Amino acid sequence: MTKTAAELVLEESVPSAPVRDKSFRQTRPSIVGPEVPESPFPIVLTGAVQRGFGRGGKDLGCPTANLPDESILPMSSVTQTGVYYGYAQVSREKDGEVILAEEDSQVFPMVMSLGWNPFYKNEKLTAEIHIMHDFKKDFYGHEMQAIVLGYIRPELDYVSREALIEDIETDKRVALTSLARPGYEKFREDPLFDATAHPRL
Ligand SMILES: Cc1cc2nc3c(=O)[nH]c(=O)nc-3n(C[C@H](O)[C@H](O)[C@H](O)COP(=O)(O)O)c2cc1C
Repeated sequence: MTKTAAELVLEESVPSAPVRDKSFRQTRPSIVGPEVPESPFPIVLTGAVQRGFGRGGKDLGCPTANLPDESILPMSSVTQTGVYYGYAQVSREKDGEVILAEEDSQVFPMVMSLGWNPFYKNEKLTAEIHIMHDFKKDFYGHEMQAIVLGYIRPELDYVSREALIEDIETDKRVALTSLARPGYEKFREDPLFDATAHPRL
């Protein structure tokens, strides 16, 4: 059986990942997962957003919000590493002060990378969420709620930055198509999310 991310953390060395080649690119499906989320999904993750190395925004055109180590456990203890999809929301407030605009605090589709980022050879397991929305401000330190609903693909290593960017762009399209099914869309309205922060018009 494939090891969970938490089991891999207990091993001494950083796990190796296959290098993405052309055959993988050609065979990527445009929609993934069953018609409704199946166990272990949905998985709820919450925590204050932390800074990563900042390469997501600068190098990849895909800024990510990192979750604190202890917030990852509900996921890493039951899933393998890889790329996942679901919904996320960032709280408007930080330290009791309203900072984010209402339009930035809605529930948005997200893609998430759980792993060691083999392309960048990280030494620590991270959970990084890219929220599919153009935020007007950064939100480090804000509480984030996420519901993970499905798995897209394993973590891979890449021959070039461009190849990684291309796969992340595909991940985003796959996530949007996969979430646009009634069994997934309904999680936008989950009580986990703060309905007062985003009144539906
Ligand atoms: C949807 C998505 C898929 C990703 N897939 C991979 C991957 O397969 N391999 C990899 O090394 N990194 C992958 N990454 C992680 C990026 O390498 C990571 O977000 C980047 O290093 C930025 O991290 P930083 O902000 O901490 O610098 C993925 C990130 C996202 C958002």
